[in-house]
Amino acid sequence: MTSSSLRKVVIPAAGLGTRFLPATKAVPKEMLPIVDTPTLQYIVEEAVSAGVKDVIIINGRYKASIEDHFDVSYELEHTLSERGKTKDVEALKKISSMANLMSVRQKHPLGLGHAVLCAKHLVGNEPFGVMLGDDMIDAEDPGILQLWRAYQKHGKGVIALMEVPPSETHLYGIAAGEMLDERTMKITKIVEKPKTNPPSNFAVIGRYLLPPSIFGHLEKTERGVGGEIQLTDALAKLMETEGLLGYRFTGTRHDAGDKVGYLKANLAFALKRPELKSGLMPYLREVVAKEDGKK
Ligand code: G1P
Repeated sequence: MTSSSLRKVVIPAAGLGTRFLPATKAVPKEMLPIVDTPTLQYIVEEAVSAGVKDVIIINGRYKASIEDHFDVSYELEHTLSERGKTKDVEALKKISSMANLMSVRQKHPLGLGHAVLCAKHLVGNEPFGVMLGDDMIDAEDPGILQLWRAYQKHGKGVIALMEVPPSETHLYGIAAGEMLDERTMKITKIVEKPKTNPPSNFAVIGRYLLPPSIFGHLEKTERGVGGEIQLTDALAKLMETEGLLGYRFTGTRHDAGDKVGYLKANLAFALKRPELKSGLMPYLREVVAKEDGKK
């Protein structure tokens, strides 16, 4: 296969965000910040650093705040310019120019597979990435780019995998198969959130690099786990017809869709910034000492 850039990614952002109520009553979960930046911006930045130009957001309610965030904000930029805050203006301009944002409305909450299917007409006949906002991958080498390289090498759909403790396999899509090398798995079985007998402890993490033929499988996919049209079920069909690979990516994954995971992500990203770390560390030590004292 020729070496070219990945052009398009789909980011499903139509969930109700019930785990973060009441914060998500009027704000989409994807706009909740990690330190001072919406989770969605980190995901878009990952796509952009992989060379992606077109970002397709699948929206539910609250389309406006997501679109506004990636749009030009003349008033804000003007006011900040007048106050001499050039750095802030530059940062805002960067957000609005980083990608071509397109959005599609998912009119019915029918699940992840259905959300991806909503992007069919915008993706067209080319491979594309799917990036889930709950999964943040903090890596030198952008997660979606790692998958794109594997896709180009093997010419097959690739999904991100990570080993999880056996007690957590019921929370994920689980894949099993044969390791082709240290990182690449030829998947022979994939199931969504197995309640019993998981085929392995390799969990599907929210980065997928898919051929356009996935849409045909999604169109035929019936409702599965939770009464939803599951991407995992369409992936199982793709596996049978064309083959499917898993890729054990490098980097740290944060589950921003879980409260503890979200708090950990905030801490991890804050501690990477020296100006925040210096204020946070003494406080963290104090909290730990207090908690230890209680034992
Ligand atoms: C979705 C997928 C699941 C995957 C998970 C990763 O589930 O359906 O296969 O393992 O994302 O975060 P969700 O967490 O949206 O229920």
